[in-house]
Amino acid sequence: MDYIAECETLKNKALEQLETVADDITLAAFFAEFLAKKGSISSLMNHMREIAPTDKAAFGAAVNGARKIVDEAYQEKKAAIEAKKLDQKLAAEAIDITLPGRKEPIGKKNPYYEVIDEVTSIFLTMGYEVAEGRDVETDLFNFELLNVPKDHPSRDMQDTFYIEGDDDLLLRTQTSAAQAHAMLEKNPKGPIKLICPGKAYRRDDDDMTHSHQFAQIEGLVIDKNISMAHLKATLELFAKKMFGEKREIRLRSSYFPFTEPSVEVDVSCFNCGGKGCAMCKGTGWIEILGAGMVNPKVLKACGYDPDEWTGFAFGVGVERVAMLRYGIDDIRRFYANDIRFLEPFAGK
Ligand code: DAH
Repeated sequence: MDYIAECETLKNKALEQLETVADDITLAAFFAEFLAKKGSISSLMNHMREIAPTDKAAFGAAVNGARKIVDEAYQEKKAAIEAKKLDQKLAAEAIDITLPGRKEPIGKKNPYYEVIDEVTSIFLTMGYEVAEGRDVETDLFNFELLNVPKDHPSRDMQDTFYIEGDDDLLLRTQTSAAQAHAMLEKNPKGPIKLICPGKAYRRDDDDMTHSHQFAQIEGLVIDKNISMAHLKATLELFAKKMFGEKREIRLRSSYFPFTEPSVEVDVSCFNCGGKGCAMCKGTGWIEILGAGMVNPKVLKACGYDPDEWTGFAFGVGVERVAMLRYGIDDIRRFYANDIRFLEPFAGK
């Protein structure tokens, strides 16, 4: 038998069959049939024993030559199949740039922070510092130093959350505690001009207008010769910047233990301009904060000589201002965590 011719025939058969190979599976079958160790081309070598010694070299060369050619064609085919697979994958994963984009929701600022930031920036332009208060206070700073002794009736108005196991530690009921810190910690004693925005806590039953947790912005100014006129001018400027140029304020006599005299401050209604509407309950005025001249007893307790220094203080309820300004009907909305609450404030 002419094994060299057989070699040629097998090579041609393999190349012809390779033409029909189109995927990984038929490619693997092709390899097993022709090129593997036990494949038909390698198996040709089994005939070596039957070849005449003078023809052995030529036969070996013929087998190797055939294997080389088939193997090269196989490698080429393999690369072509890989390339085709990659093309298919790319086509399948192609991005259609004409599709409309998916809308990502944009975060909105809670009106509560809107008010805090706005009030803060108004007082910053008037040269105030921003003090950081602390939520957990001692009885001393929240009450005693502010002229609210243990048996004082105003403590009932501010039913307090005490920290369990400690009669002296509490969640502050008012940001006014920051006043005592500022005055006591000022060394040497000198002028103070600060605001302190922060949370306050009271054992209130939550309803539409009461919350166990709310925010206040405290203000404190201490200097020589500070008078009620400074307080009035400051609050008037604040009211105009916050609620509009046309706003006016009015002071009503009131009582707070840490101020003397004390006032409640109303701003002319920014809804009806003072004519009377539902928002101002027909009065034309809306109460926005409490204020007064720092009580000499407080100055003294905090290390300031009341004969030398005077000052004024005020406290703004953040949620109240936000509710009036944005027409929010229920204080609980600020912390209920319902994202729909924020929708109307987009872009404000
Ligand atoms: N701390 C008072 C409250 O929680 C608000 C307040 C009133 C603060 C008068 C002041 C002030 O600084 O002078 O109701």
